[in-house]
Amino acid sequence: MLETLIRVPPDPILGVTAALQKDESTDKVDLGVGVYKDDSGKTPIPRAVKRAEQEMLAAQTTKTYLSPIGNPDFNTQMAALTLGSDLVNRKGDLSLAQAPGGSGALRLGAELLLAARPGSSIHVSDPTWANHVPLLGNAGLRLETYPYYDAARNTLVFDRMIEHFDALPAGSVVLLHACCHNPTGQDLDGAQWSAVAEVLARRRLMPFIDMAYHGLGEDLDRDAASIRLIAKAVPELLVAVSCSKNFGIYRERTGMLAVLSAGSEPASVVTGQLSRLARSLWSMPPDHGAAIVDRVLSQPELRQDWMTELHHMANRINSLRSLLADRLSEATQRDFGWIKAQRGMFSRLPLSAEQVINAREALHIYMAPDGRINVAGVSSANVDYLTTGLASVMRG
Ligand code: LMR
Repeated sequence: MLETLIRVPPDPILGVTAALQKDESTDKVDLGVGVYKDDSGKTPIPRAVKRAEQEMLAAQTTKTYLSPIGNPDFNTQMAALTLGSDLVNRKGDLSLAQAPGGSGALRLGAELLLAARPGSSIHVSDPTWANHVPLLGNAGLRLETYPYYDAARNTLVFDRMIEHFDALPAGSVVLLHACCHNPTGQDLDGAQWSAVAEVLARRRLMPFIDMAYHGLGEDLDRDAASIRLIAKAVPELLVAVSCSKNFGIYRERTGMLAVLSAGSEPASVVTGQLSRLARSLWSMPPDHGAAIVDRVLSQPELRQDWMTELHHMANRINSLRSLLADRLSEATQRDFGWIKAQRGMFSRLPLSAEQVINAREALHIYMAPDGRINVAGVSSANVDYLTTGLASVMRG
């Protein structure tokens, strides 16, 4: 029976890591998968996370099951961190479910939307994170795109995005990136988010917000402002949250889905549905990462230390943006100043698919096939090699 399966191409993002691991060149530069790196190229475990993990292991007396929606203390802490205390005070209207990473939360959200309205479609930004397509599409949602980014001018196409939303029928689902847009790094400003909130409310659209890089754009409050603004404007909302990058616990698969309903009665129905859906997908989410995050957030000293380190990570990425933009502009005699204005780990370089392959094969510079780079992969040691190399690829 298994002989009927066809060979699939490598994942566009994870395939970059697989190719990089096989490359033995000492020059290789990893600008692929979205993980934070320090100047030595390592992906660190934040101090507070390491300490919380040790304390948690020492204190833990059982590993018996929790429930399909996970650790309630973790869920409440994460809801407060992401949605803000105003919204968490509307506890009755909120349903929370721990999930295996932000990806698990996205999948759970997709399943919930389909349970509510079979045959639903979801409108995603053009472009969007490559894995949104199989993650949401394989759940059964039909994917459609809305205009988002002009790659020739490195700007948002905001008016066209709003026009698209304005023409959607009530009940249409719209996927938004809360901050640190993946793959472009191009975020909306405050006035643009207000305009989005207004059209979502007026057209009675259903926002589904992906928050995968909280704290890595500007800071925890400014990065979450989009979610808090939209939550005030609309009666219903889904938010998929990832702890992978900001807590540095990638492979622990820790995330949460928050669902805001129009009242406590529908919210209790949603909670029951989330529990049923999670049970059918993975039965229970993995506990380890959530127990660590709960401890970091609930102990003031650990929380403060984590926030300090997170702030340092965001500042480092933003200073790498300046360094890269200046050096690339110098090396190419073209303007890369737009990289400085973008946020989070990613920007998309103006390279053809062929130039991306040339960079990999001739120079051992690895990035996603669409030219997306992880800015955190730039370092003081590789910036010269990288920018002169990219300039030669762009000329070629
Ligand atoms: C990325 O976009 O590189 C990250 O979100 C990691 C992943 O799973 O794709």
